[in-house]
Amino acid sequence: MKRKVTIVGSGNVGATTAHWIVDKELADVVLIDIVDGVPQGKALDLLQSGPIEGFDCGVVGTNKYEDTSDSDIVIITAGLPRKPGMSRDDLLTKNYEIVKSVTEQIVQYSPQSILIIVSNPLDAMVQTAYRISGFPKNRVIGMAGILDSARFRTFISQELDVSVENIHAFVLGGHGDTMVPLPRYSTVSGIPITDLLSSEKIDALVKRTANGGAEIVGLLKTGSAFYAPSAAVTEMVEAIFKDKKKILPCAAFLEGEYGINGLFVGVPVKLGKNGIEEIIQIPLQPDEEKALEKSAAAVKELVEIIKV
Ligand code: NAI
Ligand code: 2OP
Repeated sequence: MKRKVTIVGSGNVGATTAHWIVDKELADVVLIDIVDGVPQGKALDLLQSGPIEGFDCGVVGTNKYEDTSDSDIVIITAGLPRKPGMSRDDLLTKNYEIVKSVTEQIVQYSPQSILIIVSNPLDAMVQTAYRISGFPKNRVIGMAGILDSARFRTFISQELDVSVENIHAFVLGGHGDTMVPLPRYSTVSGIPITDLLSSEKIDALVKRTANGGAEIVGLLKTGSAFYAPSAAVTEMVEAIFKDKKKILPCAAFLEGEYGINGLFVGVPVKLGKNGIEEIIQIPLQPDEEKALEKSAAAVKELVEIIKV
């Protein structure tokens, strides 16, 4: 049976996510945007790559929520991206209004869908979608940790001149300057990087990871990263549709786990056909616990401003 994915926002992240999804033949895709013509044009262009790439997925562009009805997964990328000098948090109020109105319409047409939120500031936007949708917590997930971990993995691979496939890494916490990369749980073929790299080198990689989004914004100047973010979303879609029970770092609603209550924060979760099927709790050392607490406090501050 063909699955249906709606992607709200057909900008850089939205359109590139559509590309990865159809290229992997994971689902038919509906691209929706407020701008007339852009989702339609991108959808038609992408569809016409099908005969060359050999995928048989439908791709539709629209401005009408009716066309999104009965989607299995809805990915929300609508909003403003970061510009140079702008923090993710500057986007808070503007993107809150956008994510709120998008979620209201999605719920009406796809009440059984799983929501994957990408819009920034990520953790506060997932919490917005969760509160507005009224969906159970397993069906509202934020994408950030996979991206942040992928950045960490890339830097480790470059440093050690080892295949990225051998590298696993965990980044917990909110998607912001307070994110918590965990070197102890970051490994090369099972060997912790703490056995392979000096603490100075690890600190430098951790810092570069936490600054990973801003590094790209600084280079692009007119927007933010989209290839790695869209690949990260696609990994989540694949894990859900294939019921892979994959352990991935995602923003999940915590109710006591890691000592955090009533807040979306990035933690390892098991992704399967029901969305988040389990929150994985790993033992943390006191300094890691403290860093996670600080990161959660930063998320809480934003959530309190928008009262979600
Ligand atoms: P973009 O500007 O290329 O695309 C955003 C799209 O959203 C535009 O096409 C715009 O017309 C559309 N849009 C605005 N309001 C809308 C509405 N009410 N309904 C439907 N569509 C609407 O931006 P880009 O680069 O695709 O980034 C999108 C969002 O994702 C930004 O908030 C960005 O900060 C965030 N982001 C988050 C990441 C994460 O790790 N969670 C990684 C990368 C981006
Ligand atoms: C990133 O980390 C902008 O949040 C986005 O690239």
